[in-house]
Amino acid sequence: MTDNQGRTIDYLRISVTDRCNLRCVYCMPEEGMESIPHSRIMTYDEIIRVCRILAEHGLKKIKITGGEPLVRKNVVWLISEIKKIPGITSVTITTNGVLLKESYEALVEAGIDAITVSLDTLDPELFRQITRRDELSPVLEGIQLAAKQARVPLKINCVPMMGIQNQGILNLLEYVRKFAVDIRFIEMMPIGLGKQFEFVSEDALRKLIEDTYGEMTLYCERRGNGPCRYYDVPGFTGKVGFISALSHKFCHECNRVRLTADGFLKTCLQYDCGVNLKPALSEGVSDDTLWKMMKEAILQKPKAHHFEEEKKDAEDEERGMSQIGG
Ligand code: 5AD
Ligand code: SF4
Repeated sequence: MTDNQGRTIDYLRISVTDRCNLRCVYCMPEEGMESIPHSRIMTYDEIIRVCRILAEHGLKKIKITGGEPLVRKNVVWLISEIKKIPGITSVTITTNGVLLKESYEALVEAGIDAITVSLDTLDPELFRQITRRDELSPVLEGIQLAAKQARVPLKINCVPMMGIQNQGILNLLEYVRKFAVDIRFIEMMPIGLGKQFEFVSEDALRKLIEDTYGEMTLYCERRGNGPCRYYDVPGFTGKVGFISALSHKFCHECNRVRLTADGFLKTCLQYDCGVNLKPALSEGVSDDTLWKMMKEAILQKPKAHHFEEEKKDAEDEERGMSQIGG
């Protein structure tokens, strides 16, 4: 399917839960985070139905996210069912890694096509400060298992934060250097609690990396589902990538829509635009009606975000990242 800007939309990110076993400072408050009640969460049958209808109209790639997707019961079953939908060529997951070790085998069996683990630092104390939980060891065990077994591609996501001294970006690079793992640096986006932090730009990181490891070369082939730009770095087995929504805006080639855990089909990360599918799904409307609702929303997908502007728009998103899924 194509939106009104001529962009092909073939990628859906599904937040299967807004709950999480970490409390990252840029994503969730320490206390008082109200979870969506179970009665309002999309059932697996509803999610599968939305995927099937969208796949009939060109959806190819799906990302399972959260909150933390591995805290939702039987998420592996959902993955195996989505894998069976004709037209779906790739189902991947982004996890914080806390439960990866015990889920890895089942994820691979279910047919997961790639796994991304979020990891901002290797320093246990700083990890505890950023995530407010003492869970670095299980995360690293999960990463090591997944890297060693190498049955599916593995990526690491890191969000560098200005003002956090000694986040240890170079340690992190040194850690992944020998694995066949890609590491991607994501610019902090001013969404929810992320607004309190300043992003570290791609250019600043590239300088740091080049000063340490030598010249990086842009990797021109297609890799992954999205806007990440990858480089080869001397001495690295995997690639080093950048997702730079602020310093290198990529809205013109955006191929994605999102489904929140409570069934809102969201067409842009910044704005509260899209359509709430949950009532229609509960009322049992036809596939045709559901498709018309989704098509209308996708056609109207905003042209671009305006994160760089200070002023607040009436349509600005009130949801936080754990409710959207990144
Ligand atoms: N800006 C950029 N990335 C974010 N993430 C969470 N909040 C933000 C934000 N405000 C990241 C997580 C994870 C991915 C799903 O999104 O660290 O890697
Ligand atoms: Fe959980 Fe991811 Fe949010 Fe951290 S960033 S609190 S791991 S959902």
